[in-house]
Amino acid sequence: MNDFEAYFKETIEELKTKELFRDQDLIFKRQSNNELINFSSNDYLGLAFNNPSIDIIISNNKQSAGTGSRLISGTSEAHRELEETLAKWKGTEAAIVFNNGYAANIGALSSIVSSKDAVFVDEYAHSCIWDGLKLSSCRKYIFKHNDTQNLNDLLEKHRSKHQKSLIIAESVFSMDGDSPELSKLVQLAEEYNSNIYIDEAHSTGIEASTGAGFVKRLYEEKKIQDFSRIIQMGTLSKAVAAEGGYICGSKNLIEFLQNKARTYIYSTAMSPIIAKLANENIKMIQNSDHLKKELNFNIGLFRNFLVENLNNKNNFKNFNGPIFTFFFGDSEKTLKVSNFLIDQGFICTAIRPPTVKEPRLRICINSKHQKKDIENLAKQLCYLLNKEIQDPS
Ligand SMILES: Cc1ncc(COP(=O)(O)O)c(C=O)c1O
Repeated sequence: MNDFEAYFKETIEELKTKELFRDQDLIFKRQSNNELINFSSNDYLGLAFNNPSIDIIISNNKQSAGTGSRLISGTSEAHRELEETLAKWKGTEAAIVFNNGYAANIGALSSIVSSKDAVFVDEYAHSCIWDGLKLSSCRKYIFKHNDTQNLNDLLEKHRSKHQKSLIIAESVFSMDGDSPELSKLVQLAEEYNSNIYIDEAHSTGIEASTGAGFVKRLYEEKKIQDFSRIIQMGTLSKAVAAEGGYICGSKNLIEFLQNKARTYIYSTAMSPIIAKLANENIKMIQNSDHLKKELNFNIGLFRNFLVENLNNKNNFKNFNGPIFTFFFGDSEKTLKVSNFLIDQGFICTAIRPPTVKEPRLRICINSKHQKKDIENLAKQLCYLLNKEIQDPS
């Protein structure tokens, strides 16, 4: 066995021993045999399946691939339209689209801050935020999750040593479902001459009157008066049910990224079919209030069932959005609970390190879940948690 093969084998064996090995086909194999109800999906509005736009888009568009990078020859009417729709939706001067959210974070963060600058980043930020920062030579200050006092202390101590300063958070933290106190972040950004970079992956499509996200919702609710210091990043792969990532902000920011973000410049443009699909789905979201109402109804149903039937109401966490978290102990126990729920017909994938420090079940409710399925899953969870059955094998 050569050195690389030995290294791969050793790493895989170590992951398996620690119950941290991940098998991409695990759910797929079981899904093909019986119908599992997916409670681990980020398709919050249920637009990924039976989407009425797909047939029309495919029959009206004969260009399947981007054919070139955006700056060479890949920009089409579909890309331009999508970027215009995004900017209008978000209320910004301009927008830029990347091939996915991961590429958006890498491209933006590796280019907008450099060695003389500082970032103040929430410790729970998504992996692609950390990876983007790794490619920048900026100085990182990590603040405790959602702790604005800790952020304030770090800004007070370090801000003056640096040229530009960026505060980074997510509008809904992907693995916990909670949100930062944005009005306080804006206040601190003003006080310490900083900008804010907010990843809206899990609020795009589901917050604010038109689904534009968390920043827009707080602006509508008058909790923030001005979002000119905020760079809004997000993905088109979750509630928008297409593919792609975006950054919305000032015209200067977008022109800067078009010239400096390497994941934008050196990658083939997204397929125009996907750009059209994302554009159509955003328009559908803007005009279909019922999708958000159905989602909120289902979230309420699940939460109420848990509150009424769990002996210990602290056994789960939810912050009024579609993400619910349940803690059962170490990775081994969490995996057993997840496998037990799969046997009952529910996909509730265990989330384990290194994605999170504390293993958990992360359950996502969507608009298309049926009442009986939501209640059956809640019943199973209450059964496990009330009897403290953390090892259902
Ligand atoms: C908070 C957050 N940011 C960015 C991304 C990356 O987006 P995409 O899936 O479009 O690459 C994700 C996806 O998991 C995410 O949860």
